[in-house]
Amino acid sequence: GPSIHGRRSVLPYSLFSSGVWCAQALEMFVGKVPFLEALNGSTVVLPCSYSSCIGIENLYFNWQFNDNGTMKKVCESTIKSEGVEPNVKIFRERVEFVGKNNNVSILLWNITFDDGGQYTCFGRNPKEKDRNHSAIFSLIVVDKLREVDNTLTIIIASAVGGAIALLMGFMLLKNFSLYVLSKLEKKNISHWIDNTEHGLSGSKADSKPTPKKK
Ligand SMILES: *[C@@H]1O[C@H](CO)[C@@H](O)[C@H](O)[C@H]1NC(C)=O
Ligand SMILES: *[C@@H]1O[C@H](CO)[C@@H](O)[C@H](O)[C@H]1NC(C)=O
Ligand SMILES: *[C@@H]1O[C@H](CO)[C@@H](O)[C@H](O)[C@H]1NC(C)=O
Ligand SMILES: *[C@@H]1O[C@H](CO)[C@@H](O)[C@H](O)[C@H]1NC(C)=O
Ligand SMILES: *[C@@H]1O[C@H](CO)[C@@H](O)[C@H](O)[C@H]1NC(C)=O
Repeated sequence: GPSIHGRRSVLPYSLFSSGVWCAQALEMFVGKVPFLEALNGSTVVLPCSYSSCIGIENLYFNWQFNDNGTMKKVCESTIKSEGVEPNVKIFRERVEFVGKNNNVSILLWNITFDDGGQYTCFGRNPKEKDRNHSAIFSLIVVDKLREVDNTLTIIIASAVGGAIALLMGFMLLKNFSLYVLSKLEKKNISHWIDNTEHGLSGSKADSKPTPKKK
C-alpha cells in the first residue's frame, strides 16, 4: 500500500523564510483602506504591492478595471526578479506605472467619472506553482458639489457658532456689567473706608508731636 513517506507535499507554503512563518506564498496588497474618494479632474495613485515568502521569478502582474461586468486590462508586465524594473504595457489612457521594488502601483491622471469603479491588482508567481493572488481597490469619483456642500455646512456651522458666540457675548457682557457694578460698589465702600482711615490717621498725625523738619 502507499506509505505516508511516499506522499509528496502539495503545500508550497508553510515555509520558514527570514524568520517569518508564511501562511500564504504570494500576496497582493492594496493597503488597509482599499478605496479612495477623489474629485473628478484630480490625479490619483492606485496602490498595490506584492510580497512573497520564497521570492519571485517572472512574476506576472496586471491591473484590471471592472467595466460594467467585463474585466478590462489596464496594464500588465512581468517582473524577472526582485528589484528588476518591469517593462509595463499600458492599455488605458491617462495611466502611468509608478511602482518600484515590490510596489506595482499605478497613477491615474485627470480622472473622469468613467474612471470610477473597481480595480483589481492581480499577481501570479510561476516559482510558486503559478500561485495567484489579487486584491480589489475601489475608486469613487466625486463632483465638486460635495465641496460646495462642505462650505455650506461650514457657513451654517459658523453662523450657528456666531449666534452662540453673540449670545455668550451678551451673557458675558451682562455678567461683566454686574461685575463692574459690584466692583464700583466695593470701590465706593473701600473709598469711603480709605477716607475714614485717612481721616483717622490724619487725626492721629495731628495729635502726634510734629516730626523734625529740615
Ligand atoms: C467635474 O465635473 C463637473 C460636473 O460634471 C464639471 O463641471 C467640472 O468641470 C469637472 N471638473 C473637472 C476638473 O473636470
Ligand atoms: C451595463 O451593461 C448592461 C447590459 O450589458 C447595460 O444594460 C447597462 O446599461 C450597462 N450599464 C452601464 C452603466 O454601462
Ligand atoms: C492632465 O490635465 C492637465 C491640465 O488639464 C494637462 O496639462 C495634462 O496634460 C493632463 N495629463 C494627462 C496625462 O492627460
Ligand atoms: C507604492 O508607491 C506609491 C507611489 O510612489 C505610493 O503612493 C505607495 O504608498 C507605495 N506603496 C507601498 C506599499 O509602498
Ligand atoms: C491562476 O490564474 C490563471 C488565470 O489567470 C489560471 O489559469 C491558473 O490556473 C491559476 N493558478 C492557480 C494556481 O490558481
